[in-house]
Amino acid sequence: MEYKDKIVWITGASSGIGEALSVAFASKGARVILSGRNEKELERVKARCREAGREGFICPLDLTSAESIHKAVNVLAEQFGRIDYLVNNGGISQRSLLIDTPVDIDRRIMEVNYFGAITLTKAILPLMVKGGGGHITVISSVVGKYGFPMRSAYSASKHALHGFFDTLRTDITPSNIRVTIVCPGLIRTNVSINALESDGRPHGVMDPRQDKGMDVDVCASRIIRAVGRRKREVYIGKIDIILIYIRKWWPWLFFRIAGNVKPT
Ligand SMILES: NC(=O)c1ccc[n+]([C@@H]2O[C@H](COP(=O)([O-])OP(=O)(O)OC[C@H]3O[C@@H](n4cnc5c(N)ncnc54)[C@H](OP(=O)(O)O)[C@@H]3O)[C@@H](O)[C@H]2O)c1
Repeated sequence: MEYKDKIVWITGASSGIGEALSVAFASKGARVILSGRNEKELERVKARCREAGREGFICPLDLTSAESIHKAVNVLAEQFGRIDYLVNNGGISQRSLLIDTPVDIDRRIMEVNYFGAITLTKAILPLMVKGGGGHITVISSVVGKYGFPMRSAYSASKHALHGFFDTLRTDITPSNIRVTIVCPGLIRTNVSINALESDGRPHGVMDPRQDKGMDVDVCASRIIRAVGRRKREVYIGKIDIILIYIRKWWPWLFFRIAGNVKPT
């Protein structure tokens, strides 16, 4: 019953983890706000939410545009008056060696993954504080905990999220705002297909390792469980999440493993 009638705003709801989360929250009776750029895909997810038990509400949004974010916040404040849960999920990955990647691409990835999430969070916080509290979830990655081949900008953008959202926890304690940082490992979605190459074009390929990743619905239900338990940080994936512990306790071993990974 925990999510019944709660207002849950999910970015990147048009695909992958965001889509699975939207349907799972709708099946629990939540009123889900679906955001992303692709309105046709958002309509498809809205229909899935309806079938799962609760009508969704579409709020198109481009995370690279502060104007688009503030417009969305104003529309939702008017329409719903409060947001109980925000899930900062929308993001873009990378498939290019650091030396080949122009800084423009680093900035593009940072704009979506970091500045998009923090602009939205800062815009929604006053509404949450006024409403007596709320819960903010941010989808980082295992590469938010370590660097990995072909992911320099992506990894940096996810590391930055940890700094921001850990500080939010300490800055906002009296306001009853809770934060869950989720670090997924390999989850079977289109993330590698949509990842940027050094020329800014999508990679366009389902990586074999990605294809063998965790089922996206399993990932979504684990995220929802972590949010319900008010976890501060969770690692969700298969055996791949073990690298977080190896990086922490045996860095020499981590860099030996990462250095031998065949880049994809
Ligand atoms: N799958 C994994 O293995 C994995 C692992 C670790 C972390 N993650 C993280 O999980 C999150 C979701 O990724 P996914 O795996 O579900 O990949 P996905 O299927 O490619 O979905 C990415 C979502 O982000 C949205 N998005 C991208 N750029 C956007 C922009 N400028 N403005 C608004 N929305 C934007 C897309 O919506 P539109 O195209 O409609 O805008 C889409 O809904 C990302 O933050 C990703 O970094 C994924």
